[in-house]
Amino acid sequence: MSKVFVCTAWGGPECQELQDREIPQPGPGELLLEVKAAGVNPADWKFRAGQFGTDFQLPAGLGLEAAGVVKAVGDDVEGFAVGDAVLANVPLGNGGFAEHTIVKAAQAVAKPDNVSFTVAAALPVAGTAAYDVTHQIELEPGQSMLIIGAGGGVGLMAAQIGKVHQFRTIGVASEAKRALVEATGATFVASGAGFADRVRELAPDGVDLVVDLVGGGTLRGAAPLAKSPDHVVSTADFSVTQLGGVTRAHDPEALEKITGVVSYGLVDPRVTATFPLERAAEALALVESGHATGKTVIEVA
Ligand SMILES: NC(=O)c1ccc[n+]([C@@H]2O[C@H](COP(=O)([O-])OP(=O)(O)OC[C@H]3O[C@@H](n4cnc5c(N)ncnc54)[C@H](OP(=O)(O)O)[C@@H]3O)[C@@H](O)[C@H]2O)c1
Repeated sequence: MSKVFVCTAWGGPECQELQDREIPQPGPGELLLEVKAAGVNPADWKFRAGQFGTDFQLPAGLGLEAAGVVKAVGDDVEGFAVGDAVLANVPLGNGGFAEHTIVKAAQAVAKPDNVSFTVAAALPVAGTAAYDVTHQIELEPGQSMLIIGAGGGVGLMAAQIGKVHQFRTIGVASEAKRALVEATGATFVASGAGFADRVRELAPDGVDLVVDLVGGGTLRGAAPLAKSPDHVVSTADFSVTQLGGVTRAHDPEALEKITGVVSYGLVDPRVTATFPLERAAEALALVESGHATGKTVIEVA
């Protein structure tokens, strides 16, 4: 048997629990992973709450990004073998918060030796999001990027990518995250009432790119700071398109690329909290608070 953290209905934290299941077997194109670490994302509680639809089998495993060791390889898989260390997106419902899970080989990449499982587990969802939002609209060195939610999982990696590309990055976050945001090379601006005015003082002519990781009224306050409305990217709010902005565009090679950048030591996902699988509920609650710092990762013994 193998442990997995699941939701048994669509709703709040009362719907989730750690269960035992048979070790799943990989189908064609799939890998069985012995999970070593799994990143926690806002998408995990959104999935549990039914925001991605309820057309999934229950209980449904939680956890969408994982790193581990390949234990079995399905038919038609090339490039992976038993014993390989990999990181991968975990399909909705399969459960990354688990001792074992099934991933698609097409969504897995080899884990570099110099990247820990814990760090690797932060990349398939948050790392690729940071990669995409900083690349889908091309900026030149010296141009300005404003990140709203700069102290979270995606935001801290996006800010570090900004430094790699020599963007002038402004990071909006709560005061508690000032030091972490400034450590990326970004200029810190405190979030909350008046944040847009504080950004305007730094960038009177507006910014070349707004990366919104918060959405709602905060996005609406930030969007006019962009020099051009179509240079607003949001991962958090589909209604960005009503403002003339865009949602995240997925680069199929983003996982490979962000893994390389992390392996070169240029970006660190800043894992600030780790929990054992038995405390997955606490890990998810921390992220569900909406005020997480960097990445939260579940480490599986
Ligand atoms: N579409 C995709 O493929 C995709 C992929 C990854 C993530 N996402 C989405 O992107 C969003 C961010 O993800 P994440 O993993 O970075 O989340 P996270 O780790 O929870 O970070 C969110 C950050 O936003 C900050 N924040 C909250 N309210 C704020 C405000 N009003 N102004 C400025 N900052 C504020 C939070 O802390 P403080 O309030 O303390 O600053 C926190 O650091 C989520 O909505 C997530 O679902 C989408």
